[in-house]
Amino acid sequence: MSITILGIESSCDDTSAAVIKDQWLLSNVISSQDVHKSYGGVVSELASRAHQANIIPVVETALSKAGVFISDIDAIAYTRGPGLLGSLLVGSSFAKGLALSLGIPIISVNHLQGHVLSHFVLEDSKSQLPKLPFICLLVSGGHTQIILVRSPLDMEVVGQTIDDAAGEAFDKCAKVIGLPYPGGPMIDKLAAEGDPKFIKFSKPKIPNLNFSFSGLKTSFLYTLRDKQEEDKDFINNHLADICASLQSTIIEILLSKLEKAVHTYKVYDVAIAGGVAANSGLRSALSELGKRKGWNIFLPKKQFTTDNAAMIAIAGYYNFKNGKVSPIDEPPLARMPF
Ligand code: KG4
Ligand code: ZN
Repeated sequence: MSITILGIESSCDDTSAAVIKDQWLLSNVISSQDVHKSYGGVVSELASRAHQANIIPVVETALSKAGVFISDIDAIAYTRGPGLLGSLLVGSSFAKGLALSLGIPIISVNHLQGHVLSHFVLEDSKSQLPKLPFICLLVSGGHTQIILVRSPLDMEVVGQTIDDAAGEAFDKCAKVIGLPYPGGPMIDKLAAEGDPKFIKFSKPKIPNLNFSFSGLKTSFLYTLRDKQEEDKDFINNHLADICASLQSTIIEILLSKLEKAVHTYKVYDVAIAGGVAANSGLRSALSELGKRKGWNIFLPKKQFTTDNAAMIAIAGYYNFKNGKVSPIDEPPLARMPF
């Protein structure tokens, strides 16, 4: 029997709906919110309002692009957390209301597990899935974790940041040099033209598989403050070199821990996920490292790096297939353990 799942994602500033039939993606519609740009970060109140306005058209478009009727849906998967509570409330209330009206089950999904499971979405005959078990580096605006994936429903966090996330380091440092939010993609673009050895920023010394990025942020801030005191146009004149140096430091920190995880667990299928997985420097450095070490590397398509509902729908698919559905009265959680 085939399984058709409608996925709904609204944890931050993207409203998304997707339809998956078995593992196959039929549609994945994402409406991104531009209203936050001028505020230098996501404003939660504005995000909730925009989700409220977008959710019905986004779901309708996802269903029509998939070529399915609402009555074809077997279950609705939604993001329970972690995320902004107001944003989560819009998606979860909508999912519950729709499921109740259709008399079908709902499945609550952990957003972070969704990012990892984006690697199981089949798009066409060329889609390649990692072999189990595999290691996934999850790098987003709020999280940086190394996850050992034994099966789609059995994952273990084996390393994580003890302070800032990698995406946060990109965004906060971008702010220091006057780039708009979110700074990650802009740093990526500028870094392509710069010298990664131009400035040496300090790297953390943490013995296990955990990360730390707050020291790098401080080192970035103070180094540039001192340089600006000597030359008031330093940042403007060396923007690309500064971005390349910062990006290569973040990549070195990420890859050194990933390498350690691969050696610890002797698992050689390695994937990345989350918004920072779109970073072209990280993608090429990991591909090269994988080639050198003989690992199988899995890079998500750009549309699956940032927040999307396909990853929520695929998580719903695995849960539903294994008989796991959720109670209707589960509240969304701003903080949600992995
Ligand atoms: O996964 P995501 O869309 O949302 C969260 O769940 O956090 O990740 C957003 C993060 C932001 O910090 C953004 O700056 C970063 O991903 N990001 C990038 C790139 N594209 C998005 N960072 C570096 N290079 C990129 N190309
Ligand atoms: Zn995310």
